[in-house]
Amino acid sequence: MSDIKSRILSVGTFVPDKVLTNKEIEGFLDTSDEWITARTGIKERRIVDKEHPMSAADMGVKASYAAMERAGVTADDIDGIIVATFTPDNFFPSTACRVQSDLKCNNAFAFDMSAACAGFAYALTVANNMVVSGQARTMLVVGSEVISKTLDWSDRGTCILFGDGAGVVVLQAEKNRNPVRGILSSYLFSDGTLGDLLKLPAWGDERFLRMKGNEVFKHAVRFMTDASLRAITKAGLDVNDIDLIVPHQANIRIISALAEQLSVPMDKVAVNLEKYGNTSSASIPLAFEEAWLDGRVKDGSKVLFVGVGGGFSVGSMVCVM
Ligand SMILES: CC(C)(COP(=O)(O)OP(=O)(O)OC[C@H]1O[C@@H](n2cnc3c(N)ncnc32)[C@H](O)[C@@H]1OP(=O)(O)O)[C@@H](O)C(=O)NCCC(=O)NCCS
Repeated sequence: MSDIKSRILSVGTFVPDKVLTNKEIEGFLDTSDEWITARTGIKERRIVDKEHPMSAADMGVKASYAAMERAGVTADDIDGIIVATFTPDNFFPSTACRVQSDLKCNNAFAFDMSAACAGFAYALTVANNMVVSGQARTMLVVGSEVISKTLDWSDRGTCILFGDGAGVVVLQAEKNRNPVRGILSSYLFSDGTLGDLLKLPAWGDERFLRMKGNEVFKHAVRFMTDASLRAITKAGLDVNDIDLIVPHQANIRIISALAEQLSVPMDKVAVNLEKYGNTSSASIPLAFEEAWLDGRVKDGSKVLFVGVGGGFSVGSMVCVM
């Protein structure tokens, strides 16, 4: 067993200025603020403005600056950068390489990961393993998405759900200490047989995000509950030991069902999807930052991250702050 743990030093985020409210969507789609709010919990989302386009790398860079400043680390300190995204700037070079070059992290390796809305949990797991194994001391874990570009804005079953944004955590190696601090456990799972339920084709004329909402909903609750329990058990803890759950922000009904399955009160769950919608790999750091700034994350807090998305891909992690 390594005597190194990786610790989350900070989180930083960025969202575009442009707000798209449910009321505005009513103006061009057969839907209503009431329907969207009741079925999803979402009231508004941030969208990259066509007049001032931004890419996943642009937003990832801005969120990284915020996270690095809070952590008190410089560009030279960063050994590795992982960007989780399903809306990369290019097939290659990777979005992570653009982030590396813009931040001038000249000592860092950089690569992208694709696990859709579970991307942040996957990237954090890989970064944790790299830090614990000694491959890197300090890493940026970035989730950044420009989902608005991938949506069919005439499909009311999908376009109302998503938003754009980025979130980053700084992860750093620390000698194991007492009391223990850092990432305690992680769990990853994939089920490729369900791939057609939620997909964004890379080729062809129909390059829009498509989804079978109802079925995705049921699997999301099942997978998130199972992944949460596995990470908690792996950490040697009980559900009641967890101070805060930061789930992927897809739908308030999915999150409430998760809390119910785990018998956890909603005041122990970070939720901010009413403002941002589903920002995929950016949603966990966006909710985590808000909870941290609100004083809900303190030294010693035990936090569970859990994400689920297309693939299907599922990831969870328990850490002590
Ligand atoms: C998409 C979602 C909100 C739809 O809610 P739902 O309660 O499952 O609704 P259904 O798809 O069964 O549709 C019910 C009705 O509402 C209609 N409807 C769908 N979207 C609508 C909208 N934006 N406004 C108004 N009506 C809408 C449907 O056409 C359907 O009408 P019908 O009964 O006349 O056919 C919900 O399934 C969901 O959130 N799924 C998970 C999606 C998700 O989180 N994906 C990402 C996972 S990482």
